[in-house]
Amino acid sequence: MTLQSADKAFGPVMCIVGARPNFMKMAPILRALASHVPPLPALLVHTGQHYDQDMSGRLFTDLGLPVPDINLDVGSGSHAVQTAEVMRRFEPVLDAHRPSCVVVVGDVNSTLACTLVAVKKGVPVAHVEAGLRSYDRQMPEEINRVVTDQIADRLYTTERSAEGNLLSEGVPAERVIFCGNVMIDSLMANLKHARSAADTLRAHDIDPAVLDHPKGYGVVTLHRPSNVDDPETLRLLLGTLGQVAHDLPLVFALHPRTRSNIDKFELGNLIDPKRFVLLPPQGYLEMLGLMSAATLVLTDSGGLQEETTALGVPCLTLRANTERPITIEQGTNTLVGTDSQAILRAVAEILNGQGKRGRVPELWDGHAADRIASDLWRWLSPLAVSR
Ligand code: UD1
Repeated sequence: MTLQSADKAFGPVMCIVGARPNFMKMAPILRALASHVPPLPALLVHTGQHYDQDMSGRLFTDLGLPVPDINLDVGSGSHAVQTAEVMRRFEPVLDAHRPSCVVVVGDVNSTLACTLVAVKKGVPVAHVEAGLRSYDRQMPEEINRVVTDQIADRLYTTERSAEGNLLSEGVPAERVIFCGNVMIDSLMANLKHARSAADTLRAHDIDPAVLDHPKGYGVVTLHRPSNVDDPETLRLLLGTLGQVAHDLPLVFALHPRTRSNIDKFELGNLIDPKRFVLLPPQGYLEMLGLMSAATLVLTDSGGLQEETTALGVPCLTLRANTERPITIEQGTNTLVGTDSQAILRAVAEILNGQGKRGRVPELWDGHAADRIASDLWRWLSPLAVSR
């Protein structure tokens, strides 16, 4: 489908998703493209980096995402295999549909792979959530971010520090647009539909009374390779979480990477079923419900750092760095790393009522995707060609 603009036309905006954290970013963008005046035609491509019901299917339903127009079905693999496979399968799709531009979000392998293919074919690329930097090149996502931002044409940022990062890497200022945080668009649109923690536990045949505790409960997610791929690091972290669980019931939504490593390293004995509520990866509405009523969140996820800031829930990030500094400077996030004493101290402070309250950052207002759609229209109209 093409869109007529005066005597010109441009092809669809090709929107790429691959892995779980992409879905909540793309849902509001697709809605904003459709509600823009005039509407911008879109095509949704799912690379299939995440493919199962827990990591993908259910989130599509929760977020009201349409069935993808194209699914590349790449599945799991090493970074090289996964990235190469997305590139190989994406190229003919790009050739067939001649989009006016490709929109990628976040920092997963699919983001980088599709950007590389499109840019080399002369198709403009817009990167949403550009300019975030952990300055830790051990993180696969950092490599994906740096390369994507160097070669993409339009860079939409979530916080002002991102622009400074991009400029210091030589990116021209006119490519950078501060538009706010699309992930918070999704949060605001869906909070009223969030599923209560009690309902979520009941759905797993767990008595919600396990969360009845004078101090409430905590939510845990862990999946970064740096935390879960090394047996000793994972053992220490699970041991520390076990100590936290003495003072506060913990709901632990286990990512498949973490679950398989706990099994592989035979660490299951560190998770006391009387103190932990173990759940599979949760749907979006379940996670929102669990987080919004929690006393604290312990995580190594990027998205949860932002969502807890928007919700005003204290977050302890089990990493040495973050690419989202605004969640620390203005929000409720604290970097605690993986040192047991530091984690226990920070938990104790929150349980004593000294947790960060924070404020919601600039332009995390539920309208970031509208700003992106308006900008895409302004940017793409002069690029439209007779077709
Ligand atoms: C990927 C992203 C990471 C993001 C995370 C969210 C990259 C480099 N990493 O990491 O940025 O924060 O997604 O989850 O892109 N698996 C399933 N079902 C699925 C998909 C995966 O069970 O639908 C299992 C597979 O065994 C796979 C493992 O999970 O090997 C890890 O998946 P993978 O896509 O390699 O990376 P993530 O750790 O999920």
